[in-house]
Amino acid sequence: MSLPKSDLTKKADQRTAMDLGPVLPKTAEVRDGHLFIGGVDMVKLAHEQGTALYVFDEADLRDRMEQYRESFAELYPNSDVLYASKAFLNKEVLRIANEEGMCLDVSGGGELAMARAVGFPMERVFVHGNNKTERELREAIEAGVGRRVLDTRIELGRVSRIAGELGVTQKVLMRITPGVEADTHEYIKTGCEDSKFGFTMLGDFAFGCVGDVLAAPNVELTGFHCHIGSQIFALHSFREAVQVMVEFAARVKERYGLEIADLDMGGGLGIAYAADDAPSSIREFAECTAAAMKEYCAEYGVAEPRLLVEPGRSLVANAGVTLYTIGVMKTLPNIRKYVGVDGGMSDNIRTALYDANYEAVIANKAADPRTEIVTLCGKHCESGDAVVLDGSLQHPDLGDIVCVFGTGAYCYTMASTYNGQPRPAIVFVRNGAFRVVTRRETYEDLMARDI
Ligand code: LLP
Repeated sequence: MSLPKSDLTKKADQRTAMDLGPVLPKTAEVRDGHLFIGGVDMVKLAHEQGTALYVFDEADLRDRMEQYRESFAELYPNSDVLYASKAFLNKEVLRIANEEGMCLDVSGGGELAMARAVGFPMERVFVHGNNKTERELREAIEAGVGRRVLDTRIELGRVSRIAGELGVTQKVLMRITPGVEADTHEYIKTGCEDSKFGFTMLGDFAFGCVGDVLAAPNVELTGFHCHIGSQIFALHSFREAVQVMVEFAARVKERYGLEIADLDMGGGLGIAYAADDAPSSIREFAECTAAAMKEYCAEYGVAEPRLLVEPGRSLVANAGVTLYTIGVMKTLPNIRKYVGVDGGMSDNIRTALYDANYEAVIANKAADPRTEIVTLCGKHCESGDAVVLDGSLQHPDLGDIVCVFGTGAYCYTMASTYNGQPRPAIVFVRNGAFRVVTRRETYEDLMARDI
């Protein structure tokens, strides 16, 4: 795959680091021309810890978790916020999510094992995902997870049998595909009809399956789940989904006599990747969802269930950045200028995969205006290996430290060791101090599983 052609008429935006607004972690500041996050000099940190390096602003991360908890607690007290661990996962973020009173969305055996390793309370864990194996289902039920979100009728039989074998009753939700088209990239749309996830509403299939779940032994249906997609800016999509789900719950009440206890509306709130992006705030998202729940429950005559939401990206994306060192540069007149960094599609596949768009600055020139248009390319054996396509950047020199913003979600968890590239370390910064919470992968790690 090669890169799309550069627009040679594009002008650099002349912004300095602090002009980048919503993409910056909350504690970002510039001192003596250097970018600081959490009171820590990113240039010094890069020199000490090496690059590529993922850095997280812990105050920012905790603050967003608090905003979610507090907004929902105030606007819809019977609610819980689940951290969608697929967005960014290591032991420390799980400990923090637990301390901040979050529930947890895990989507399989490995994520569950990590939650168990840090002692995350299992009754606050929701197990999601399609096609979970017999082993994964057994591990989850044995561990005593709060809910398994059933994805198919085939799985219902398995969960019912395993719970019976273990002598327990497993609480379950059913994942419904509500047929709401969210305005986002095709690959991360999930709520529309043509989806591998969940029970379809087409032909009223999901509705019929409710009877099967209610009749199955060893499972207790506590409600429904949906997830309409990710990186969604238009709040009305969430509102529409609430309406579809509440109407469904009303029909279930009428036909089966079940008043649901839980309605899980999934994740998906969008974030700013570009300085001019204007996503809705966490507060606005909470207002929209809480109001829709109250209105539609009243309209359809359903007792207000517990409201669950499962944010991932909007908790971690803007708290995280990636630091790189510029190793090579190459200017092709009338084509583009390449600035080569010591990472790329191995630590951030999103640009190649979804045409994602990131803002970058040179951390040691953070007070300077961005005067050039460059392509930040990685070090991998593919032409399409780029982190930023035709983005504004300060005048680059070899050895400069580049900081790419908004990389806290779906970069580390989707990272690979392509070309034998060890995955970067993860550092949390706070109050002028840093701690390495995941060490850099080593060459030995790369070979550790080979026999
Ligand atoms: N709940 C469920 C059932 C999900 O599948 C997801 C994300 C979430 C919650 C969290 O959604 P968020 O709040 O983060 O939007 N790799 C893609 C994103 C895939 C999202 C997968 N599911 C990306 O890099 O954009």
